[in-house]
Amino acid sequence: MKKRQGLLAALVLFACMSNVKAQQNKHTFISNLIRKMTLEEKIGQLNLLTSDMDVTGPFMKPGYKKDIEAGLCGAVFNAYTPQYTRQLQEMALKTRLKIPLLFGYDVIHGHKTIFPIPLGEACTWDMSLMEQSARAAAVEASADGLQWTFSPMVDIARDPRWGRVAEGVGEDTWYGVQVAKAKVKGYQGNDLSASNTILACVKHFALYGAVEAGRDYNTVDMSRRQMFQYYLPPYKAAIDAGVATVMTSFNEVDGIPATGNKWLMTDLLRKQWGFKGFVVTDYTAINEMIAHGIVKNEYEAGELSFNAGVDMDMQGSVFAGQMKKLLQDKKITQAAIDTAVYRILSAKYDLGLFTDPFRYCDTARARKEIMNTENLELARKVAERSIVLLKNDNQLLPLKKEAKIALIGPLADSKRDMIGNWSAAGDYTKAATLLEGLKARGANVEYLPGAHYAADTTLIKRALQKARLDASDTADAAPMLAAAVELAKRSDVVVMALGETQGMTGEAASRSNISIPENQQQLLKAVYATGKPVVLVLMNGRPLTLEWEDAHIPSILETWWLGTKAGNAIASVLFGDYNPAGKITMTFPRTTGQIPIYYNHKNTGRPQDPNNKYSSKYLDNVNEPLYPFGYGLSYTKFTYGSIALSKQQITKADKLQVSIPVTNSGNYDGEEVVQLYIRDLVGSATRPVKELKGFKKLMLKKGETQTVMFEISAEDLKFYDKDMKWTAEPGDFMVFIGGNSRDVQSAGFILK
Ligand code: GLC
Repeated sequence: MKKRQGLLAALVLFACMSNVKAQQNKHTFISNLIRKMTLEEKIGQLNLLTSDMDVTGPFMKPGYKKDIEAGLCGAVFNAYTPQYTRQLQEMALKTRLKIPLLFGYDVIHGHKTIFPIPLGEACTWDMSLMEQSARAAAVEASADGLQWTFSPMVDIARDPRWGRVAEGVGEDTWYGVQVAKAKVKGYQGNDLSASNTILACVKHFALYGAVEAGRDYNTVDMSRRQMFQYYLPPYKAAIDAGVATVMTSFNEVDGIPATGNKWLMTDLLRKQWGFKGFVVTDYTAINEMIAHGIVKNEYEAGELSFNAGVDMDMQGSVFAGQMKKLLQDKKITQAAIDTAVYRILSAKYDLGLFTDPFRYCDTARARKEIMNTENLELARKVAERSIVLLKNDNQLLPLKKEAKIALIGPLADSKRDMIGNWSAAGDYTKAATLLEGLKARGANVEYLPGAHYAADTTLIKRALQKARLDASDTADAAPMLAAAVELAKRSDVVVMALGETQGMTGEAASRSNISIPENQQQLLKAVYATGKPVVLVLMNGRPLTLEWEDAHIPSILETWWLGTKAGNAIASVLFGDYNPAGKITMTFPRTTGQIPIYYNHKNTGRPQDPNNKYSSKYLDNVNEPLYPFGYGLSYTKFTYGSIALSKQQITKADKLQVSIPVTNSGNYDGEEVVQLYIRDLVGSATRPVKELKGFKKLMLKKGETQTVMFEISAEDLKFYDKDMKWTAEPGDFMVFIGGNSRDVQSAGFILK
């Protein structure tokens, strides 16, 4: 035994020493390289430019290839394929010091194989699956010339008018923390020097999801308490998970744009949180500080952002144009420039780019990895688990195999929409539409669009990404609707594929009215009037207001945009091959007027009381949402017993065991996400009425009962107290367990 321990100790010591040696070699290499670099070459490393393969922001900087050849560009984004990145890399390797380029891209929910949009994937409540989809994305992206993704986006959001809710995981902080960790691990793996791992980039730092009125790029203003309690933890989780890079956000924080905010980028991110990677701005965010009114010109913008802690300028060319003069004028220091260059060269070194700049340009690996069977099967699995059953009266679903189906709606056969927004290199021509999925499953189906995407031609142009529309795009809608109604009448059941086009959410796509477009609603009501049973299949990138739909349509499936295998996954759920188990992670309001509306709200001093005029409520609506956080049904039914606590009170050193029996009391085997919430009844700062603190996803065969066990410790009860100290305060607590944040069993306990 002693001999084995001795051997183990020797192995550990050897590993530590070789790691130290490796770090020394890396430091020596980078330091020697920096010593050789001119000021222009150093500034070049801080310059990130978009290629012309894809454009994701306001303007293109022409002549980026000349900058690469002159050594004035250190990284390129929106360029991929082994061939194209090799071509650009060869240009960089002809420069004096042959410093390789870094290639970044928005691999947000898949690279070529596209997974559900993040707000959809979040409904799986499966961290392993979300890590796997990031891993698959990294394998494909790294085989396609890329080493860096601008993902995960972890912005907490409580306002579905904001188009970018599609890219995040919704309103809950604790849940956002879990997903942030899973995604960083999926992209970066355990070894960045491996050829199938890529740098992750946590964004948008910080608080971008809290834009006022849900209007993109708008002002963000909140207390430090609100920041630390609700919005900052997912970014911190990504940092603690070792994320390699951070992207600044467009919005201001405490009145200073994030991109020029020293408290945020240096005091908090580096000094408090210990972030060691590099900070890149969002697209021309430095330049935009002029419009913010915090600086007069690019010279001042460059000074403010660089001294705040930004290392790399995305597409703004402010560092490229101003840094030399800023240094001459002693507004910035040479040491700070060298530090920024060091961080970027360090990332390139970790990726192995100095040893083999073409290791990511391997066409053979691209052929093997991209859209292979394994990735496509994973895409289907994730898609099926992202679907949320919102309503299913009289068990209309699953459909009978022999049913004569009328498939109606403009989204039913739209390949482009199936891969959603921020689908970057996704090949939508390879996406399965709902019509294709039903046909592939042998369904007896006839399809008609019934309506255009929207009556508003600008929205259609945006949806179809067309500068000019064809006649068919704006043909008279009346005959389309009439034909669809006739089709419905001669069918057994109608499946309606309605909602948003991918162009109606994502960046710069906020909506002030978040209902299904009016013309599509007219189609739905006309088909409903036939009296035929209707299944509404929603395709959308945000929670929608669905009061009429919920009151009239017997079955409603939320399918988001599910990616390459969308149609197959929806068909599988419609016919019951897969029993849906998704749970929403963002509240669905009844009306836009209720926004912001979220489950972990405060109680207020006058909580809603139907018997008291002077209580917090609306004259024209209820306070409650249409579908609460964590909500989702199944084809079966789950019955919850009573909560049992291992004790009535715990000390800060104790753990409380909480258990509850859950029974599948329906007719199908199915999965349930059992959710654990707590409430701190009294705090030195006010506390929300519920906070998610855990969940267990379990499969229960019909008739089966499982006792689900959770553990709660004082760590789970901590919050920022009146002095902003992260602590757990003794007192009375409630614990809630259920299949969503509303329908719960509860019990009380005390923290001594
Ligand atoms: C965009 C987005 C950001 C993206 C970047 C590069 O403006 O805000 O999320 O990563 O530009 O495309």
